[in-house]
Amino acid sequence: MASKHSTRALRQLSKQLVAPRVQQRTFVSAFNVTRPSLAAARKVVAPAAAQQTRGVKTVDFAGDKEVVYERSDWPREKLLEYFKNDTLALIGYGSQGHGQGLNLRDNGLNVIIGVRKNGASWKDAIQDGWVPGKNLFEVDEAIQKGTIVMNLLSDAAQSETWPHIKPMLTKGKTLYFSHGFSPVFKDQTKVEVPTDIDVILVAPKGSGRTVRTLFKEGRGINSSIAIFQDVTGKAEEKAIALGVAVGSGYMYKTTFEKEVYSDLYGERGCLMGGIHGMFLAQYEVLRENGHSPSEAFNETVEEATQSLYPLIGANGMDYMYEACSTTARRGAIDWSKRFKDTLKPVFEDLYKSVKDGSETRRTMEYAGRKDYRAAFEKEMEEIRELEIWRAGKAVRSLRPENL
Ligand SMILES: NC(=O)c1ccc[n+]([C@@H]2O[C@H](COP(=O)([O-])OP(=O)(O)OC[C@H]3O[C@@H](n4cnc5c(N)ncnc54)[C@H](OP(=O)(O)O)[C@@H]3O)[C@@H](O)[C@H]2O)c1
Repeated sequence: MASKHSTRALRQLSKQLVAPRVQQRTFVSAFNVTRPSLAAARKVVAPAAAQQTRGVKTVDFAGDKEVVYERSDWPREKLLEYFKNDTLALIGYGSQGHGQGLNLRDNGLNVIIGVRKNGASWKDAIQDGWVPGKNLFEVDEAIQKGTIVMNLLSDAAQSETWPHIKPMLTKGKTLYFSHGFSPVFKDQTKVEVPTDIDVILVAPKGSGRTVRTLFKEGRGINSSIAIFQDVTGKAEEKAIALGVAVGSGYMYKTTFEKEVYSDLYGERGCLMGGIHGMFLAQYEVLRENGHSPSEAFNETVEEATQSLYPLIGANGMDYMYEACSTTARRGAIDWSKRFKDTLKPVFEDLYKSVKDGSETRRTMEYAGRKDYRAAFEKEMEEIRELEIWRAGKAVRSLRPENL
């Protein structure tokens, strides 16, 4: 999972790709960019467009055929009919609660919000037009009214509130999560689900804000769907329908375990932690060798995020290599092997640490601290104050849109 801010930033960057701009002197030559970009873009965009109109279900992902569910099979009338007897009780109104809740409401479904009265979320919900007593309730009341209970409390809060919530999840209701965290790591979270209800997952692969903006743009976010427990024989169908209803475009089937392992691993690795570590290491070596902060930042972060990573995002790694000079390409291909070999054991350690529950334990301990918010803010302040990110602030201030 990516944070709200990083996902939003990535989406802004990807917009710039419509006309990839080559910034700075960089090793990307304008001549090279133009030719492969057109050819490669044509190659990639055409099949995706065809899939959308043809409603293809089985997609060949590099030789591995997978069923992909898509929203075109669930037009709004079908969703309304499917959920006509349901009350969707969405518990928690943070990042995901906001995005999924508003999308459900705009889709015309009978959705109510359950949050702590007068907490930050209660106020946010009122600002978004939810009305106390009509479609905004305290947690208990919402769960009692709901036929489908969507647990979108923070993962730590899911564990903390479970002893209170569990008895209200009576036979006939469906329990929905957007992360496999609570039931998979039940030894630690104590979230032992009742055995007589369907338990399903729709995990949007992005922040709640992105869930909302993509929906409003008429697109849809990619989501994972999974079934933990199917007592009615309808759990999968319900998960797909809910996936569409909350704003997914394409849904990839997985298991609760695989969803939570890959998510915790990815955010600690390439999505956030790993990339931050790489940035810091590269920047420090440049600085230790006499390069100025602006040069070190431009060669480490700015060129990556503004020029090269968007090319990878648009059309893949080969496309980015093709857009670069021979000199850059040769060195990058050679060194990528060394980085991979050096880093792979670190990734193996990380996966092990996710799977054996160490990462969950640490998260729960951290989120359970009384001074959690203050401690988090202190860490953010430390990151903000690192020279690399102070230099970055100055570099960004020179962008035309910030002048
Ligand atoms: N954020 C993402 O990018 C993302 C992406 C995919 C999946 N998910 C998953 O979606 C789920 C929700 O995550 P989120 O990021 O949306 O959560 P969040 O923003 O951290 O939302 C927290 C919500 O939980 C409530 N809460 C916290 N402690 C509580 C307590 N003790 N009792 C009652 N309510 C409490 C908060 O209410 P108050 O305002 O009253 O404190 C708030 O409404 C999680 O399972 C997460 O893993 C998140």
